[in-house]
Amino acid sequence: MAGRTQRELYAQIDTELSWSESDLPERERTKHVHRLHPYLGKYPPQLVEVLLRRRFAPGALIYDPFAGSGTTLVEATVQGMPALGCDVSAFNCLLATVKSAPPDPPAAAAELERALALPPGDHPASPWLERWYAPRALAELTGFRAALDGSPQRDMLSIVLSRAARSARRVPHHALDDTRAPVTEPYWCHKHRRECRPVGDAARFLRRYASDTVRRLTEYAALRRDVPATVLHADAREADLPDGIDGVVTSPPYPGLIDYHEQHRYAYELLGLDDRRELELGAAAQGTSARSIAAYCAGITEALAHTRRHLRRDAAAAIVVNDQRALYDDIARRAGFRLESRSARHVNRRTGRRAGEYFEEVLWLVAAPARARAAR
Ligand SMILES: C[S@@+](CC[C@H](N)C(=O)[O-])C[C@H]1O[C@@H](n2cnc3c(N)ncnc32)[C@H](O)[C@@H]1O
Repeated sequence: MAGRTQRELYAQIDTELSWSESDLPERERTKHVHRLHPYLGKYPPQLVEVLLRRRFAPGALIYDPFAGSGTTLVEATVQGMPALGCDVSAFNCLLATVKSAPPDPPAAAAELERALALPPGDHPASPWLERWYAPRALAELTGFRAALDGSPQRDMLSIVLSRAARSARRVPHHALDDTRAPVTEPYWCHKHRRECRPVGDAARFLRRYASDTVRRLTEYAALRRDVPATVLHADAREADLPDGIDGVVTSPPYPGLIDYHEQHRYAYELLGLDDRRELELGAAAQGTSARSIAAYCAGITEALAHTRRHLRRDAAAAIVVNDQRALYDDIARRAGFRLESRSARHVNRRTGRRAGEYFEEVLWLVAAPARARAAR
């Protein structure tokens, strides 16, 4: 949005989609299942709530081709809309599945109690795990992991285990999203403003997140409507989609910002998840060279064109993106969409890293007439 005056900028801001930090504090942005596990790059559920209400009615099938942690799916199910999501990251699919499935809090509580009662494990672990965890923490995590085998609540247990594993890594408290090198000695902690010691255990995190998970599932159970939610672990360019999708609400990856597999490396290592990072569009590791941006545009265009072929004729798609490189007019057109509207919204701390002013855009797309598509 560079080059615009402040007056022009604010004239385009959709105030119903913009919140200040005090209007929408983190506690609200991470309400009920929206914080079963932290996730970089999540959009606020309140934004999805407004977008869904504006355009769709209960019963509408809502699709998110880049489902991430499942924000769209959770909000759709709360509004009585069947939800379908796709993501190339196995961990994100696991998280979105646990968040959007019909919860069973008593069953979850019983399985968590059983898992917490297991003794520390003595299992061989990968070099990565050996490096990032103190021996006791690793034994407690692998002990809990033994409860996954044959459990009817395997996915939920996996998320509690992953959340505890994230907290128990030997990273400074102030840099949980930054996994450059483990700390093995006491360090000055910018979060707590005192000297802190590297984490030595995982049991207290497992216990804390077990009870927090049951509380969050219970809150969601009271809000969720009886509609299906399905998550596909697939590349959005070729996911196996049903026909007749009523609407899309999504926030695609953007070039060079986040590595969606690497941010949850501990979960891939502990759970042996299928790593498909080479299919990630716009991953930070791919950089922002002209070639990477061109590959990104081609990939998102293909994913949106594939999605469009499974939409009802009168369907609409909301794309939430900070399009700082002005890529999306062209992407939308090449994917066979007509850009119906574009508005800006003010963002408070989307990735957890930014504290300053930051805007992103909401694009509403509708399928272009077949005649217009053929002319391209
Ligand atoms: C900005 S995040 C979505 C966040 C989501 N709106 C939320 O609130 O959690 C973008 C997602 O796109 C996924 N992604 C990247 N390349 C993909 C591909 N080729 N197919 C499907 N998903 C992909 C990433 O794994 C990531 O989860």
